[in-house]
Amino acid sequence: MNICVIGAGPVGLVTSACLASIGHKIICTDDDREKINLLMSGKVPFYEPGLQELVTKEMGEKKLDFTDSLEVAIKNSLVVFVAVGTPTQPEGDADLSFVENVCCGIAGAMKEYKVIVEKSTVPVKTGERISHTLETNNVNRVDFDVASNPEFLREGNAISDFMHPDRIVLGVASKRAEDILKEVYAPINAPILVTDIKSAELIKHASNSFLALKISYINAVSVICELVGADVEKVAEGLGLDKRIVKDFLNPGVGYGGSCFPKDISAFIRMADDAGYDFELLKTASAINQRQRAFFIKKIKDALWTLKGKTVGVLGLSFKPNTDDIREAPSIYIIRELQSEGVKIRSYDPAAMENAGKVLEDVTFCNDPYELSSGCDALAIVTEWEEFRKLDLQRLKALMKAPVIIDGRNIFEPSELKKAGFRYSSIGR
Ligand code: UDX
Repeated sequence: MNICVIGAGPVGLVTSACLASIGHKIICTDDDREKINLLMSGKVPFYEPGLQELVTKEMGEKKLDFTDSLEVAIKNSLVVFVAVGTPTQPEGDADLSFVENVCCGIAGAMKEYKVIVEKSTVPVKTGERISHTLETNNVNRVDFDVASNPEFLREGNAISDFMHPDRIVLGVASKRAEDILKEVYAPINAPILVTDIKSAELIKHASNSFLALKISYINAVSVICELVGADVEKVAEGLGLDKRIVKDFLNPGVGYGGSCFPKDISAFIRMADDAGYDFELLKTASAINQRQRAFFIKKIKDALWTLKGKTVGVLGLSFKPNTDDIREAPSIYIIRELQSEGVKIRSYDPAAMENAGKVLEDVTFCNDPYELSSGCDALAIVTEWEEFRKLDLQRLKALMKAPVIIDGRNIFEPSELKKAGFRYSSIGR
């Protein structure tokens, strides 16, 4: 099937490459000319494991192409995925201007029936707005359908999440659109849930908010564990063995970040508010998440006594492992807070230093954890990159000014660190 994807960001590009890999002919467009030129030259402009190889393969097989023209992109496409950004506005609501602009462009260019699919995370009732916009600008008076097909892609795991989803949600208003989208996803072996458009839109926000809620719940429990002398890792394990709870997203830490959870929780709170409901539960989950960062900084203060003039090595900048993304990353907040108290910061991250360097000042970026640890009064582990779990502790200790580690992701076993001669603190135990 000929399919167009509008938006070449993490969602649009993964969708394009994966749909091409299951047999469709994809043309992807974006209004960022620099990004499109990079892609037309075969270069993926951000880090996502496996994506560069997949794009190269599908372009080589002529199943994936790029263009900077929206008209060219939608011309022969039966399905048009809208995967443009919906950034959070100061009031917490999503900025839908990019979606609206793209829909005006689609309406002006479409000359035969199409299914226009919301792939971006959009507030409930956006489908109605899209329909009105398409109708108003439908210069060629063609028939069309609007649908919602939310994505559940985790950065760093996006291709696998696309190819092996827990479910495919199709929010449709006609059997025709339902049949076409079922054909799009036919090669993927996953349960297909067909709903109305509004329910599909809400499933996305409700899912992400619930996952964020789970994380804030275990982080709140981690604080209680410290106060009473329990071990949150054991508590989380005990919860996770309950088939109704499961262990996923019960890993305590410095709190969630990323381009989705903070944005989606804010949007859901705002959506509920607009509809007349005060979503206190999510407001509390968001507040707990902010407090968890402050809780971690306090741990660093407790470990160092005074902060002014001390040097802290921050291990991990990305909001989670296997990505270079630092959007809403706890590391940025933690580093700025420590700097405001006179702490000198050294940092290392396997993928995110370039992006972090664009938003941080006066940070010494190092080539590896050992270079980073040289002369440090303490190490703060903020992102649980696999390589940090295998660090040579004796080598670290010899390089540091003092053997102090504050572990924000519980990557180490306390007894091992004690045996190695470190003063070690972590989350909830
Ligand atoms: C999330 C959703 O998982 C995905 O389905 C949705 O489509 C987009 O948003 P993503 O934000 O890429 O994906 O990463 P995710 O793996 O969900 O982690 C989000 C944040 O939660 C990260 O900062 C991570 O460190 C944190 N986290 C995750 C925890 O603190 N504890 C956990 O147990 C799991």
